Amino acid sequence: RNILIIHGPNLNLLGVREPNIYGNVTLQDINRNLYKAAEDAGVKLDVFQSNAEAELIQRVHESMSDGTDFIIINPAAYTHTSVALRDALAAVGLPFVEVHLSNVFSRESFRQKSYFSDLAVGVISGLGAQGYELALMYAVKTR
Ligand code: DQA
Repeated sequence: RNILIIHGPNLNLLGVREPNIYGNVTLQDINRNLYKAAEDAGVKLDVFQSNAEAELIQRVHESMSDGTDFIIINPAAYTHTSVALRDALAAVGLPFVEVHLSNVFSRESFRQKSYFSDLAVGVISGLGAQGYELALMYAVKTR
C-alpha cells in the first residue's frame, strides 16, 4: 500500500507553536516515527507539508496518478475554511482520515466546523501526535 500524509499550514512550527495546545514534539519527530511505523508495517509512505493552499491542492491532485491508496490529512486551519481543498479530495476520491492534534471540539466554536469530516472515512481529534500513528495503523489494515 502507498499512504500519503499531508500536513497543512503552520504545522511546520510544531514544538514551538502554542506548546500548551500542540505539545513539544516537532513535525520532524512526528514524521520520523511515522516513517518507522510504515517501514515496520511494510507500507510505502510519503509525507508532504505546505503552508500554501494551492500547493496542498496540487499534492492531492498528484495522488490521483502517483499510486497513492490512502490519505491521512491534517488540513490545520484550512479545515475550517477551504472548500477548494475539500473539492480536491472529493475529486480524487481516495479514502482519507482527518487528523487533528488538538481536540477541536474543546476549543473556539469556529474550529467545530470542518469542510472535510463528512467526506472522511473517520476523524481523529485530540490524541496529539499519536493520532497520526493510529490513522496509519488503520490505513495499513483497511482495504
Ligand atoms: C489543528 C486544529 C486547527 O483548528 C488549527 O487551525 C491547526 C491545527 C490541530 O491539529 O489540532 O492549525 O488542525
